[in-house]
Amino acid sequence: MSVPKFRNINIEVYKPGKSGINKNKNYVKLSANESSLGVSSDVKKIFKNKNLLINRYPDSKSKGLRRAISKEVKCDFEKIICGAGSDEIIQMICQLYLNKNDEVILPEYSFLMYRIYSKIIGAKVLFSKEKNFKISIENIIKKVTKKTKIVFLANPNNPTGTYLNKSELITLRKKLNKKILLVIDDAYHEYNLKKDYVSGLDLFKRTKNVFILRTFSKLYGLASLRIGWGYGDKKIINALYKIKPPFNVNLFAERCATKAISDKGFVKKSVRHNTFWGNKIKNFFSNYNISTNEIVCNFLLLDFKKCKISSDLFMKKLLKNRIIIRGMKEYKIKNCLRLSIGNSSENKYLLKVVKKIFKNV
Ligand SMILES: Cc1ncc(COP(=O)(O)O)c(C=O)c1O
Repeated sequence: MSVPKFRNINIEVYKPGKSGINKNKNYVKLSANESSLGVSSDVKKIFKNKNLLINRYPDSKSKGLRRAISKEVKCDFEKIICGAGSDEIIQMICQLYLNKNDEVILPEYSFLMYRIYSKIIGAKVLFSKEKNFKISIENIIKKVTKKTKIVFLANPNNPTGTYLNKSELITLRKKLNKKILLVIDDAYHEYNLKKDYVSGLDLFKRTKNVFILRTFSKLYGLASLRIGWGYGDKKIINALYKIKPPFNVNLFAERCATKAISDKGFVKKSVRHNTFWGNKIKNFFSNYNISTNEIVCNFLLLDFKKCKISSDLFMKKLLKNRIIIRGMKEYKIKNCLRLSIGNSSENKYLLKVVKKIFKNV
C-alpha cells in the first residue's frame, strides 16, 4: 500500500529559535521577543477562574474581545477579525488574495511567515533590498509587476529593528499601485516612542487597501495562548470570515486578551522597562564595537561586523552560560544575532556574562 500522492510544497520550514526551556528551567531565553514582564496581574486572575465553560465551543467571532479592542484602540468593531496568533491572519490573507504564480513583495529581511504562507499557495516571493537594514520604498516599488498582489512589512521590522516613519509610509502607499494590498504588521508598535513614528492602524484606519496585523504575543505576554487580530476594510473582513476556521480562537485566549488590552498600566510599565533596559544594553554593547538598531521594539539586532569576535563564537559562549539568543541564519543576515530584552535580573545576568566573555577573548 502506498501513501496517496500529495502536493509538493517547496518551502523552508519555520524553525523557532532555540528554546531549552523545557529541558532545563535555568536557561535565560532571550530569543523570541516575548514579553519581558510576563502578563498583567489582571490576566493572572483569569487563570484562577473555575467557571469558564471550557466544555462549550467559544464564540466563533470573538465578539467580547473585538468590543474591547474597538473601545481601547478606537477602531471599528466590524473591521476586526481575531486569529490564533497574527500568524493565522497572515495565512488567511494569503489564502484570500493569492493564486498560484501571483507575486508577493517582502523586504529582504522580514518575518519568515510572510514568505512561508505565500509559497504554500504557490505564489512567487520577491525580496526588495534594504539599505543599512532599513526597508527601502524605492526598492519595493522597483519589484512591482502586474502580478503583484500583496506587499507585507512589519513596522518596526523584525528582525532588523528599524522602522519607516509616518511620511515614508504615506509615500509608500501613494507610490504603490492602488490595487496592491499593503499589509502592515504592527506587532511591536507599542515599544516605538519616536516622534516621527505612527502605527499602521493609526495611520491607515480608514484606508481600503491597507490591512493591519496586531498580536497579543509580544508586549501582552500571551504568546502561548495564540491570539492576534487583523483590521481592514469590511469587504476584506467579511471575506476572511468565510474562510476562517469556525472556532480558531479559544475561550481562554479571548478572555485573557480582553483583560490584557484594558490594562493600560501594564502597557506603560512594559514600555518604560523596555526603553530603560534597551538603551542600557545598546550602550553596553557599543563598548565592544557591537552596533545595534535604536530602541523601537523589544529586541536588538547585534551586528558583529566591527567586533573582535564573530557572532557564532559569541552565541556559543552565551549558550555555555545558559543564555539563548536568536541566530540569523534563516534570515540570511551575516554575522548578526537578535537579542530580546529580558526582565531586570535576566538583563543584569546577560551584562555580567558579556563582560566576562570579553575579558577572556
Ligand atoms: C513581525 C511579527 N509578526 C507576527 C509575529 C507572530 O505573532 P503571533 O504570535 O501573533 O503569531 C511575529 C512573531 O515573532 C513577528 O515578529
